[in-house]
Amino acid sequence: MNAPLRQVPEGAVAVALTVNGRPVAAQVEPRTHLADFVREDLNLTGTHLGCEHGVCGACTVLLDGEPARACLAFAATCGGACVTTIEGLDGDEVAGELRAAFNREHALQCGFCTPGMLVSARDLVLRLPEADERRVRLGLSGNLCRCTGYVGIVRAVMSVIADRRARGIAPQDGAARALGPVGAHAGDGVGEGKAVSAPPTAAALPPVAVEVVEDFIPAHTFAQSFSLAQPPDAVFAAFADVRAVAACLPGAFVEAEPAPGTVAGGLKVQIGPVAATFRGQARITRDPATRTGRIVGAGADVGGRSSTQGEVRYRVRPGQDPGSAVVELTVGYTLKGPLAQFGRPGLVRDIAGRLTALFAANLEARLAGAPAPAAAPPLNPFALALGALAARLARWRARLTGG
Ligand code: FES
Ligand code: FES
Repeated sequence: MNAPLRQVPEGAVAVALTVNGRPVAAQVEPRTHLADFVREDLNLTGTHLGCEHGVCGACTVLLDGEPARACLAFAATCGGACVTTIEGLDGDEVAGELRAAFNREHALQCGFCTPGMLVSARDLVLRLPEADERRVRLGLSGNLCRCTGYVGIVRAVMSVIADRRARGIAPQDGAARALGPVGAHAGDGVGEGKAVSAPPTAAALPPVAVEVVEDFIPAHTFAQSFSLAQPPDAVFAAFADVRAVAACLPGAFVEAEPAPGTVAGGLKVQIGPVAATFRGQARITRDPATRTGRIVGAGADVGGRSSTQGEVRYRVRPGQDPGSAVVELTVGYTLKGPLAQFGRPGLVRDIAGRLTALFAANLEARLAGAPAPAAAPPLNPFALALGALAARLARWRARLTGG
């Protein structure tokens, strides 16, 4: 079927995919995410939108059979994919049993979270060998409910699993696949909360093979700047110490410096239930004459199917106050694989703004003589995203009230 006709926006790209078993061909703006696409172009409004930051799970759909955040996946990148929304599960046996169990166990009140909750729950019912409460809670940890609490929801899901196994219905293949939304790694040891508490060591992680492409063209770029009450030469010199710089950046770690100007390391990230450790290599060039530098690197998600290529160009110039400096950053990046859902430019810019502020504060403290932290804590864009969300709400409120 063709998506309903509406004016094709300039720059739209063609996408062909299957939604709820039916072929769909449409023209979409590159920035349109899958949730907006199914809701507005296909009128499948059962997919709800809550946070639009990948945190609440209200938008969960099945993407090629795996629960995924429709608010973070670009529709244009879903060409050839099979998408199943809650409407596509109308006649589904497991979804029907879950709906009955949700009613029986009072597992919903307003129902806002329920479509996403059912999509995630169905995945658990199909795959978990038994009604294991810990694994059910882990699998549902990416779906937030504001109304009922989780006791009824967990009870409903467990009752359906127990009932089906009692009827001799075996779990499907894929029981070993991680629980939760795509990219979560929950239950496989890579992304569980306990593994996030400390940056990984090289010995603890499998090797990754990445190639640093010096002249790559990033899919997205943005600029940031920050001021420091330190002389420009001191700031530029500090950037030469890559381990010290990494210690100022939450989630970053350095494993080795195999050659001059080359560093091996990575970044550990967690957004709600979705966790990733990107490991790879970077090349660093610096020009003291212009106080500029470039870091270009590539990394791959340990245990996942995502990869990234990125570059940071920086320039340190004198600030307005004597003895102060301004650091100007230009960041370019390309994300591929399931975690590309977190590459939305608005989201990345919001998070990068807060990350830059944290980095600047840590660097300032270090330059002022404070002892370096033993290891930077993991990057938690969830907390950063909540801050970004609060800032956006404040901006909207100010706009609405004319403030
Ligand atoms: S709306 Fe997609 S995770 Fe919240
Ligand atoms: S039932 Fe209201 S948010 Fe879950």
